[in-house]
Amino acid sequence: MSDDFFPVPGDWASSALMDRAARDADYARSIDASHDYWLERAQRLDWITPPTKSDESSFAEADFGIQWFADGVLNVSANCIDRHLAKRGDQVAILWEPDSPDEAPRRYTYAQAHEEVCRFANVLKSVGAKKGDRITIYMPMIPEAAFALLACARIGAVHSVVFGGFSPEALAGRIVDCDSTLVITADEGRRAGKTVPLKANVDAALKHCPGVKHVVVVQATGDAVTMAEGRDLWLHEAAATVEADCPPEPMNAEDPLFILYTSGSTGKPKGVLHTSGGYLLWAALTHELCFDYRPGDIYWCAADIGWVTGHSYIVYGPLANGATTLMYEGVPNWPTPARMWEVVDRHQVQTLFTAPTALRALMKEGDAHVKATRRTSLRLLGTVGEPINPEAWRWYHGVVGEGRCPIIDTWWQTETGGAMIAPMPGATDLKPGSATLPMPGVVPQIVDTEGKVLEGAIEGNLVIARSWPGQMRTVYGDHDRFFQTYFTTYPGKYTTGDGARRDADGYYWITGRVDDVINVSGHRMGTAEVESALVLHESVAEAAVVGFPHDIKGQGIYAYVTLNAGIEPDDDLRQLLVKWVRTEIGPIATPDVIQFAPGLPKTRSGKIMRRILRKIAEGEVSAQALGDTSTLADPSVVDNLVANRHG
Ligand code: WT7
Repeated sequence: MSDDFFPVPGDWASSALMDRAARDADYARSIDASHDYWLERAQRLDWITPPTKSDESSFAEADFGIQWFADGVLNVSANCIDRHLAKRGDQVAILWEPDSPDEAPRRYTYAQAHEEVCRFANVLKSVGAKKGDRITIYMPMIPEAAFALLACARIGAVHSVVFGGFSPEALAGRIVDCDSTLVITADEGRRAGKTVPLKANVDAALKHCPGVKHVVVVQATGDAVTMAEGRDLWLHEAAATVEADCPPEPMNAEDPLFILYTSGSTGKPKGVLHTSGGYLLWAALTHELCFDYRPGDIYWCAADIGWVTGHSYIVYGPLANGATTLMYEGVPNWPTPARMWEVVDRHQVQTLFTAPTALRALMKEGDAHVKATRRTSLRLLGTVGEPINPEAWRWYHGVVGEGRCPIIDTWWQTETGGAMIAPMPGATDLKPGSATLPMPGVVPQIVDTEGKVLEGAIEGNLVIARSWPGQMRTVYGDHDRFFQTYFTTYPGKYTTGDGARRDADGYYWITGRVDDVINVSGHRMGTAEVESALVLHESVAEAAVVGFPHDIKGQGIYAYVTLNAGIEPDDDLRQLLVKWVRTEIGPIATPDVIQFAPGLPKTRSGKIMRRILRKIAEGEVSAQALGDTSTLADPSVVDNLVANRHG
């Protein structure tokens, strides 16, 4: 970890929304006068009925529950669009950059977005969708994806976006889990010049989803797809027949806004549920504070709408703040590694927010691609999704930003709704690799394995001691799992699953997951999910999956596989299993390494000792690194694993 230090530049301190003194005072008030503070902060939203209540949450088992602004009434889509119409109806709300640089960008003003969303909402209503219904969205990165989210919010339906890279199987599981009756998709998606058969994937998934009554299909590429009579309808056809206005549904602050599935250390993905008032406030407030958002800025979050970053920082946060949000259909390195910087120049982007994995991949291609562009519009650079290594941080800061732009490293999770620990550009001196200090109202603590709160400069498990408005409210359909997963390891506190170090200045350094979740290219993957996919194959008896350090992806996927008796391990089978996992889950779950293992290291009670598997995957195979193996049922399996280690 780096001890470099980048003080707030003088011009930032004087021009930003908050300087250090203001930030410190604001934070203190958010803790000491929490009730008044949050009711004041809530005024940044447009309420139909303003709340008089703020935080009524408890992490304790006896009265467990998360609740904010519970007597407030609002509509999220009206907050993201309608309320801007008078002042900035003609300002661009969504600026869309297509996959191919040879194609023209599309622009939607707030007024145009209003009509698109209203028509979309009326189409949803026309097929029977109503408040509280769950609607699954499986879309490419086109403006209609954002309109789909906002159309659901407008009528009070709960959206569940499934990343377009997930397989039909993964999609089906998520549709069934939340009983969606409606799916929104596109004919095809495009990424790096290739097409993704989204509608065909939906058709395959729906064989397992009897509850789905209709599919609304957006025409994106125009290629032929199969439309099921009576079930499927084209958005553009239906939209032409409905009203151009759709009154927003009044929603209680605690009415659900969306579900987003994410991986945990055990079992199938959890449906993280966020509600309307607290979530929107958190997305909007953190967007403004972290990125020092100012009217007129062109703001680009290069995430996918399939992840929480896309929800909070492409759609909800920026639009609630009346921003111009850039949506990019493609990938960072296509057609060349200069693409991101070309997009910055083409649209004169002020703020760029991306993931360390993208930076590492581009950094590897050399500085010439960056230097061939101007990037003079850039004012601020953000990162999210995984720890950023100081080398990538310095490259982002020095080469991309030419030393001019603060690097805003935002630590948060699907569960937290928005940034939790992150710098504010006018207030926070930066240290490469540290997410720095907590956002207003956030009380991070570091605890030891017994849950004892550790003070001062120390490393341990990161927990959050009290609720914040953007906190998830439940695991959809399984409130007990919500409580068990997050509030029992350290009773009375929210367990993040991350480890962290706090330095002498009180700065937080996230050290990575302490559970069986791995972070592959900024995508969160449960090792249990990959294991389940592997054991579904007829040749596989048992599988254990761990992460290992990977130059570009941050972590790679290392799978130990035990085959059924009589099956011969060979390269063909290895390839087959890799393909199998891709089809079962999606390309993001592609194992980097499969090591065939006659046996796995287990305790006498049958528990797989992952600590040992992790060490072997990392290449740390000395007796000292492997530690005590005497408690294993069969210590000799370790010798075999070490001898046959991959690479
Ligand atoms: C996990 C959450 C945050 C939205 C996208 C990912 C890791 C996230 C950072 C960061 C170090 C980070 C953590 C966290 N993570 N941001 N700035 N520094 N680690 O959301 O899929 O829910 O994953 O990503 O391990 O727990 P997610």
